[in-house]
Amino acid sequence: MKETQFLPRNYSSNIESGAVAWSSPSNIALVKYWGKKERQIPQNQSISFTLDACKTKTKLQFEKKGQSMDGFSFDVIFEGKKNEDFKPKIETFFKRIEAYLPFLRTYHFTIETSNTFPHSSGIASSASGMSALALCLVDVERQLIASDASLSEKERNIDEVDFVKKASFLARLGSGSACRSIEGDIVVWGKHEEIEGSSDLYGVRYPDEVHENFKDYHDTILLVDKGEKQVSSTVGHELMHGHPFAKERFGQAEENITKLKAILKSGDLKAFIALMESEALTLHAMMMTSMPYFILMKPNTLEIINKIWAFREQTGLHIGFTLDAGANVHVLYPKSEAKEIYEFISTVLVAYCQNGHYICDRIGFGACKL
Ligand code: DP6
Repeated sequence: MKETQFLPRNYSSNIESGAVAWSSPSNIALVKYWGKKERQIPQNQSISFTLDACKTKTKLQFEKKGQSMDGFSFDVIFEGKKNEDFKPKIETFFKRIEAYLPFLRTYHFTIETSNTFPHSSGIASSASGMSALALCLVDVERQLIASDASLSEKERNIDEVDFVKKASFLARLGSGSACRSIEGDIVVWGKHEEIEGSSDLYGVRYPDEVHENFKDYHDTILLVDKGEKQVSSTVGHELMHGHPFAKERFGQAEENITKLKAILKSGDLKAFIALMESEALTLHAMMMTSMPYFILMKPNTLEIINKIWAFREQTGLHIGFTLDAGANVHVLYPKSEAKEIYEFISTVLVAYCQNGHYICDRIGFGACKL
């Protein structure tokens, strides 16, 4: 599929005003996206578990504006208060997607948004935030197309598969990882020979067999550091250009997807944990070996990792971790061992969390219309 396929067909903006609302989850990558080309095309394939509890809810109101105003016009209301901080990122997003959504300059938008996870928990909210907004926007487009009487009945009906694909395509242009938050419990982004239907342009629901062991997999997110990150993901991706290990890393990610495919089928939890932890540490190794170099882990990140390893050694339970671009630790474990592992988290690991805070989550199924 080419980018041009997402260019809109002709339709008119006949609706004066309206509103749509979507809830969209965050996701946690098992094989990490780190490094991108022009237009948010990833340097390597990635795969993630969709989360269930960590979500952004967004309501988008749209109202036709006067002829005179040329630029994008929108207000952002975050958790009940007018917010200026998100505006530049949304402005950039609108610029990137305007060719695909011709009505963007026709309306004034009020974007009312809130997260189910605590504000400034250090959890990446760009995946849930951008995917929720992308879904709202394709939903507006769907309404405009449906109400255009000059189109045939067939043309007025947007196919569900195309709707989801376009939402993921647009979400990617807001934030790469956001394209993995639209639909499915396990999502792949990036063209991979062994994953049918996979694409660099959008995320696809993992199409192959998944063992029972991974159903309802748990993820407890330990909030080690809730402050602003010193280095944003966008800057981190940039630093993969000319990185001494870039080529090997991109090749390794591709191989890891192949390995993970076999693991997801067999249900081999030991191999799953080894691959996931190695991916997390490789991501941070890339940060430590870029120029300039940086470290996002904190002392408590390492304390937690060591405690997890010791507990695993002692009990033989299948507890493992992954990290995103920050100090927080995602502790992943199968449902069948949840009781003992949760007991360990809530009595031992909690001591290393900022103000004792952590979030209990598990695999979810993607976004939904509100
Ligand atoms: C470490 O999707 O936040 O979480 O495309 O610049 O918005 P942008 O980056 P972003 O990067 C996420 C990086 C990661 C790994 C992952 O989710 O795959």
